[in-house]
Amino acid sequence: MKILVVGSGVMGTGIAYAAAISGFETTIHDVSNESLKKAESSITDLLSRQLAKGYLTEEQKAFVENHLIYETNLEKCAGDTDFVIEAVPEVKGIKQKVFEQLDRFTKKETLLATNTSTMSPTEIGSYTERPDKVIAMHFFNPVHRMKLVEIARGLETSDETVEVVKDVAIKMQKDVVVINEMPGFVTSRISSLVGNEAFNMLMEGVGTPEEIDRAIELGLNYPMGPFKLGDLVGLDTRLNNLQYLHETLGERFKPSPLLVKYVKAGRLGRKTGKGVYSYE
Ligand SMILES: NC(=O)c1ccc[n+]([C@@H]2O[C@H](COP(=O)([O-])OP(=O)(O)OC[C@H]3O[C@@H](n4cnc5c(N)ncnc54)[C@H](O)[C@@H]3O)[C@@H](O)[C@H]2O)c1
Repeated sequence: MKILVVGSGVMGTGIAYAAAISGFETTIHDVSNESLKKAESSITDLLSRQLAKGYLTEEQKAFVENHLIYETNLEKCAGDTDFVIEAVPEVKGIKQKVFEQLDRFTKKETLLATNTSTMSPTEIGSYTERPDKVIAMHFFNPVHRMKLVEIARGLETSDETVEVVKDVAIKMQKDVVVINEMPGFVTSRISSLVGNEAFNMLMEGVGTPEEIDRAIELGLNYPMGPFKLGDLVGLDTRLNNLQYLHETLGERFKPSPLLVKYVKAGRLGRKTGKGVYSYE
């Protein structure tokens, strides 16, 4: 099976790596050549680190080096793919354009999965002529370490599509849950709420980021505090998620003004070197 990953940011890079080390012929596409170059260098680094730790074999590393293709022209790479995983920004207009293009450029039987954290696979399916073959396949960051893939079926998603997506996720050594769509699924809905409330607490002067993170990690047994997680996810992505949940599920998801301020300042987290914490 040939897999095409669309978008080579934080998630697309991780998904392409996970697909390729699992033996899938994989292509990763991005409109930005710079982003593809960054993806290639992260994947090269990750291959070496995982090999050194004994998590990968020489054969897996060689397979990725020989079979993972980086491509800026979507039309060129979409035609012979069997399975697409989209990981472009969580912005409706961008997702819509990408799915309309994928519907035109891929074979009619190709399955189209979206890595959206919050958006409706039913609505995304409606951008295509094949809503039965559209589904949400939600990976977690960092993809090579996180076990779960949350699969959310849209109204028209067929049972056959669900089965193929489960198989692909399991071949990528992930555990799966299959749920019916609601904005934010299970994980983003809870995580957005916790992350947003942490920003409100910071704004109210309840504690420093370190104190709030430690309280949640040690008192609630979360592996990572909400600010560390927010910086890893990207504060812009977190804000996009909250805006969508605010629109669809109501006031309790209203983005914290402090989060909005950080995003306006370009403090997006690890990817820009500064978020709540500094990484320089
Ligand atoms: N960051 C996370 O922790 C996380 C976790 C789970 C799911 N997600 C979801 O994954 C998706 C991607 O998030 P991300 O954090 O990787 O974003 P990102 O901003 O790191 O990467 C997005 C990439 O998409 C590219 N892009 C933009 N428009 C494009 C187009 N028309 N065609 C092809 N590529 C295009 C950009 O150049 C960029 O490289 C979002 O839907 C997000 O909600 C993110």
